[in-house]
Amino acid sequence: MENKERYTVTAALIYANGPIHIGHLAGCYLPADIYVRFLRKLGKDVVFVSGTDEHGVPITLKAKKEGISPQEVVDKYYTIIKKSFYDFGINFDVYSRTTKPIHHKTAQEFFLTLYNKGVFEEKVTEQYYDPVAHQFLADRYITGTCPKCGYEQAYGDQCEKCGASLSPTELINPVSTLTGEKPVLKETKNWFLPLDKMQPEIEKFIDSRKGWKPNVYGQCKSWLNQGLQPRAMTRDLDWGVKVPLKDAEGKVMYVWFDAPIGYISATKEWAQQNNKNWEPYWKDENTHLIHFIGKDNIVFHCIIFPAMLMAHGDYILPENVPANEFLNLEGNKISTSRNWAVWLHEYLEEFPDKQDELRYVLTAIAPETKDSEFTWKDYQARVNNELVAILGNFINRVVVLTNKYFKGEIPVDAPGSEHNPFTAAQEVVQEKINFEYLPKIAQNILQYKFREALQDIMNIAREGNKYLTDCEPWKRFDKKNPESAVNDEVASELTFCLNIIVQIATIAEPVLPFTAEKIRNLLNIDENTVQIIETDKPEKYAFSTIIPITKNHTINKPQLIFEKITDEMVEQQIAKLHTANQDNQSEETYEPIKPEATFDDFMKMDIRIGKILEAEKHPNADKLLVLKVDIGSEQRTIVSGIAQYYKPEELVNKQVTVLVNLAPRKLRGIESQGMILMAEDSEGNLAMINPESDFQTGATVR
Ligand code: 2FM
Ligand code: ZN
Repeated sequence: MENKERYTVTAALIYANGPIHIGHLAGCYLPADIYVRFLRKLGKDVVFVSGTDEHGVPITLKAKKEGISPQEVVDKYYTIIKKSFYDFGINFDVYSRTTKPIHHKTAQEFFLTLYNKGVFEEKVTEQYYDPVAHQFLADRYITGTCPKCGYEQAYGDQCEKCGASLSPTELINPVSTLTGEKPVLKETKNWFLPLDKMQPEIEKFIDSRKGWKPNVYGQCKSWLNQGLQPRAMTRDLDWGVKVPLKDAEGKVMYVWFDAPIGYISATKEWAQQNNKNWEPYWKDENTHLIHFIGKDNIVFHCIIFPAMLMAHGDYILPENVPANEFLNLEGNKISTSRNWAVWLHEYLEEFPDKQDELRYVLTAIAPETKDSEFTWKDYQARVNNELVAILGNFINRVVVLTNKYFKGEIPVDAPGSEHNPFTAAQEVVQEKINFEYLPKIAQNILQYKFREALQDIMNIAREGNKYLTDCEPWKRFDKKNPESAVNDEVASELTFCLNIIVQIATIAEPVLPFTAEKIRNLLNIDENTVQIIETDKPEKYAFSTIIPITKNHTINKPQLIFEKITDEMVEQQIAKLHTANQDNQSEETYEPIKPEATFDDFMKMDIRIGKILEAEKHPNADKLLVLKVDIGSEQRTIVSGIAQYYKPEELVNKQVTVLVNLAPRKLRGIESQGMILMAEDSEGNLAMINPESDFQTGATVR
């Protein structure tokens, strides 16, 4: 049997606690699907696994909110999520779930191996406990202020604002999310992964991989620089994979321990269903293991899961973790609780058969290196000006003319064939495709640069359009003399264009699979007619044939592949977003009112109107700005965590409200002499508090 290069590609196991939206698609699943589809085109041996993460506090909290059992929650959302992926052509080999017995068994075996190898540190520690709910408060059962960035709604396991991984006891002012109670400390035994001791090995692993995206590498380095801490891999909860030890009654695995093992369980499930051996996909050193995820999952896939795999010993480590940043929507963060989202199932109800339009736009704006933004206007512009006006127009013109002049039947040998060499103009176009576009597109896809790849795919369509426009067959075709030589030229030109269209369909298929299928139907060619092959030549990649369509081939009648998105459609979507958002305002979560403060307490705060004189990025922290602020009586240096919300140049000369008698503290090496007061909504968006018009700098606020 041919020895094919093997790939195990995983896409994050999303929590089965809600439907999925465009942010999920853009962040992880679409890039993974494009990558896998391309590998398959190259004939690689790929298994593409994913599924739902059905354990953890996100699930039990949702169950509590909906008044149903956790099992009912995951059953409901597994079905919805799986269908959305299927509808959008995300071509998993298996879409599993972590409540399956095969997963519980795999996770327990994994845990026991680590236990038997003496990897875990068994420790009795004091953990927060809700005395009213009679429950330990792990992970999202507890919120409080992040000790790293001051965000007040950080979870017990992670601060979603600054990405820090936390343990509940690090939170400042912790509160139980179950009852709003202040938790008490209570002793309990847990099993810890000694990440501190494993740090050198983990560093070696990170440095051994060369292809990290800068955003991923940056996060890993920042973690390592802070020094890894032992992390509990068990929890005092009743929903999850039971810890397979005698003295672990009432304990389950930490969800981030069992979830990534879910990739292995899913591969096993696929292997069972397809009569394959799962082991080489996880144990053969030659296998490429690639994890596609969103940026909030980086630490778990680059540090914790690899540490687990190393400690186990039988498994390969990931070759890359191409995580994307976040996608925003119409100027705001996507938010499930505020219903500020484009849900995939709703999109398809309103735009049936327009999966590729969304796949196209989300790839064109993918948050590959930084957060990016989806707006309906931009969606409309990209569909109308690119898909319709460039790609669709090229295909349509060629198909219409071939039908009109030749009833769809090709009367000549294809240009590039033995009997009909390329013209100079055709050769230029075909050579550009062969030696420039195709190799570049292939390499970009293999380096996870899907945006760039897509631009070049569209550039091929632009070349095709230009070629056709230059030829002007509509001016030259001789209706009166069907046998005229110029008609053979026109036939040749159209055949050339048809073959370019097949090449576009082939290379665009990973991004636009539904379109590729429509094009093949229109041009009447079989799925496997053209492949992409690897060659020994410098360009490395080539089409298996560049003239699939030649004499006597008949194409089908014209049919539009893309249609314009109207202003009305866009306005409807924007209105819907705002209405849905308003409907949901009542469900907004507000922070509990803090314990009473006396007037004297309040008067201790010295708050003044300040004016920002200078603003610049903090040299050692992406999220922080260093401001010079005039507070009337003096000038202060203030370090503020607002870099995500304001550009330094926007801030100069702005008036702000400043707490001027806060004890100075060092933030990443720079002393902050005060605090800029900001309003913060439940999603963590920040807004400045300014006087309603220019006011005396230094004025006091009370
Ligand atoms: O962020 C999430 O939705 C997690 N459930 C992702 C888990 S990915 C993997 F480790 F399973
Ligand atoms: Zn934080």
